[in-house]
Amino acid sequence: MTVPQMDPPLDLADADLLSPEAVIDPYPLMAALRERDPVHWSERYRSWFVMRFDDVSAALRDDRFSSDRIAPYRRAKLEAADPGVQAAFGVLEDWMVFKDPPDHTRLRRLLNRAFTPRAVSAIRPRVLELADELLDAALARGGAVDLVGDYAYPLTASVIAEMLGVPREDHPRFKDWSDQITGLVFGSLGNPQRYAAGAAGLGELAAYLSELVRRHEREPAEDLISALIAARDDDDALSPDEVVSTGVLLLFAGHETTTSLIGTGLLALVRNPDQRALLEADPALAESAVDELLRYDGPAKTVARVMAADVELRGRTLRRSDRVFLCPASANRDPEVFTDPDRLDITRHGERQLGFGLGLHYCLGAPLARLEAAVAIPRALERLPGLRPVDTELAWHPVLLSRGLRSFPVHV
Ligand code: HEM
Repeated sequence: MTVPQMDPPLDLADADLLSPEAVIDPYPLMAALRERDPVHWSERYRSWFVMRFDDVSAALRDDRFSSDRIAPYRRAKLEAADPGVQAAFGVLEDWMVFKDPPDHTRLRRLLNRAFTPRAVSAIRPRVLELADELLDAALARGGAVDLVGDYAYPLTASVIAEMLGVPREDHPRFKDWSDQITGLVFGSLGNPQRYAAGAAGLGELAAYLSELVRRHEREPAEDLISALIAARDDDDALSPDEVVSTGVLLLFAGHETTTSLIGTGLLALVRNPDQRALLEADPALAESAVDELLRYDGPAKTVARVMAADVELRGRTLRRSDRVFLCPASANRDPEVFTDPDRLDITRHGERQLGFGLGLHYCLGAPLARLEAAVAIPRALERLPGLRPVDTELAWHPVLLSRGLRSFPVHV
């Protein structure tokens, strides 16, 4: 690890994106870092934080910022760990998001054969139907509704589970598994029990999917698991373990983040009634609204990389094996790129935001996430016209990698 060469401004030396204030609203701290210490060394996290749009964009396209961050961690930290935790990290190690070329190229190419634009656009009517079922149930119950737990979460979980071919009666089990896996992927917050619970959840989910893969091998269906099994590139195909691991990735990536976008997006619109009125008056704005909501308060707070070589950046030396958090949430509020960046403006267009990443690992599920949010957000506003937040402090997930509400209770 590196000793920084220049001291950060005194008041930023101990900047903490997980302080209670920054978990609620990280943007003032991000603005200060962006301006005064844009490549920030954090002693607390023993990591670099890269804050400016240009630097984050360049790093996302630079292979010296490696995505292979599980294998070295597993070797360094987990040798003595519980076999369940070891096995769980084995599944994560097969995720393309944690791989560099050529392994990444191979997995992404095979997955592209299964996860096609056609498969995504075919799902639109089903998303609307599921959204309506959940809103009907919420309206029938009356009182307060949690737009995260009662709406966004079950909606996005059902969409990806149905796409994969998971039978409906098994969908509720995914919530527990997914909650547990969050501890493993987004960090244990210093609590080893979160790792153990994450490993247990991942183990159960992988066992469940292995059985599902075997069933689909015998009886192929019109779903993603069958498409993943069938995906071929010359003589290459995914191994059964890779199909399971990719299934876990899609289930996890497919709904944690999209849940956050729908929840936080609805909050942003409720807090900006002029923008909400604009969207309600013109549903054709849904697509650009989703892009702006991703920019304004999207789920990708940071993405992690490990340095594969020494790199000089704004007078700092990032050394090989250093951990780096590239910060799309900060880049997306960079005033060098976005006019009036702290203002929500759903008619904004032309500026490229980094909420789905950039480069080789650009979010594979972006079209699906866009579609889900563009259906779910306007539909909730339309069906719950009088919605207003319950008067209580909102709880946010206290993690570095992702930004999202734990719950968003509203009166309907
Ligand atoms: C609003 C929702 C979403 C957001 C904000 C989001 C964000 C991201 C980001 C920032 C990355 C790049 C990570 C990196 O560079 O390390 C990524 C990658 C990825 N996302 Fe998403 N994502 C969302 C929804 C989805 C959905 C719905 C799926 C699939 C069903 C999905 C599947 C993936 C996969 C497979 C990758 C890895 C791609 C690769 O490594 O080549 N995501 N996502």
